[in-house]
Amino acid sequence: MEALVLYEEISQLLTLEGVEKKQGRHPEQKDLGQLENASMVVNADSNLIVWVGKGDDLPSQYKDLPHRFSGKDQVWIPELVECHTHLIYGGTRHHDFALRCEGKSYQEIAAAGGGILTTMKATREASGEALVEHAAKDLARFQKFGIGTLEIKTGYGLTLESELRALEVIRALSEHAAMLLVPTFLPAHATPPEYKGRTDAYVDLICAEWLPEVAKTGLASFFDVFVENGYFSAQQARKLLHSALDQGFKLKVHSDQFSSLGGTQLGIELGASSIDHLDHISNEDIRALGESKTVAVLLPGASLFTGTPYPPARELIDAGARVALSTDYNPGTCPSRNLPLMTTIACTQMKMTVPEAIAAVTYNAAAALDLEDRVGSLTPGKEFRVCTLDADSYEALPYCFGEME
Ligand code: NIG
Ligand code: FE
Repeated sequence: MEALVLYEEISQLLTLEGVEKKQGRHPEQKDLGQLENASMVVNADSNLIVWVGKGDDLPSQYKDLPHRFSGKDQVWIPELVECHTHLIYGGTRHHDFALRCEGKSYQEIAAAGGGILTTMKATREASGEALVEHAAKDLARFQKFGIGTLEIKTGYGLTLESELRALEVIRALSEHAAMLLVPTFLPAHATPPEYKGRTDAYVDLICAEWLPEVAKTGLASFFDVFVENGYFSAQQARKLLHSALDQGFKLKVHSDQFSSLGGTQLGIELGASSIDHLDHISNEDIRALGESKTVAVLLPGASLFTGTPYPPARELIDAGARVALSTDYNPGTCPSRNLPLMTTIACTQMKMTVPEAIAAVTYNAAAALDLEDRVGSLTPGKEFRVCTLDADSYEALPYCFGEME
């Protein structure tokens, strides 16, 4: 006999059924699957949702289930999905921030020896235990903000050994975390000092040696690359992404953060699961992304914190793109783990609607991780992963403005 559990009298629940049907394009209020006084039946063995609907419509076979709980005065939405973080790192970057406040740009600070390479140095020097301890604290904080699924990138080791160590840290965290963690290999985050002025040779090394080694370990699901002036060109990224595909990785691309170099077209062409940042995306690429399956991951916290333009969310959504939101949590451009706050910034600064923002941190963020069949909505067959809001409506998520925990 299956161990079925009944949750009843849930004051408000969002299934996101309509968002799911539209695969996350043009999400509207009517797509959120809003139910008042809802019930849900869950299989406690598999942790999968069996039935969800209005309390009055509960099928008779579930009416007398012995295991039942009340959701009175609770608002249930899908547990949030954080689809872009760089949370394995040592040290801090408050000095970069102080320099930016004096007028220096992100690129100027990086060129003067700050930026990613400062964090790389601190990460290489940190012990494995210190990295685990630091990351575990971050995960606990993310969990407070209602997040149940979270992607983590490497990219602050930049030697094979230290990149593998970051992936091992993610694996160690996965063993204990209630969260679903998704590991991404990002060795092409910056050219390490050992390869200064020889980025092509570094790219060749990743393709010929690192990708096959990491593929063998099975420690990473995705491969990512930072396409930007001073980092990796579209041509170098093409080589890297092709090798990653050959080795069985799924793809992500950091593109158009400070300039538009062709990374977006490349990501679309190669079927990347997501392209992230897009602050400087061209009109032509907006149209192309709107017609593709690739998710546009927008990172308002990074724009806010570096004082650079916000991405054109309205244009992307109106073109039909599947738009997700994320913190981009990292020590340089967004040290915040507050994903609900990103929905507020998206609504006020990027003119997204509340339903669009809700879809962007649930179903569409799950799609950016190829996990939309498991998480990001509350419909039969999906994992029972719920974010309970201490509020009287889901609209409180962006409204509470940095206070929603
Ligand atoms: O997504 N853009 C590249 N990577 C990070 C920043 C990393 C850093 O500055 O340490 C980002 O914003
Ligand atoms: Fe990033």
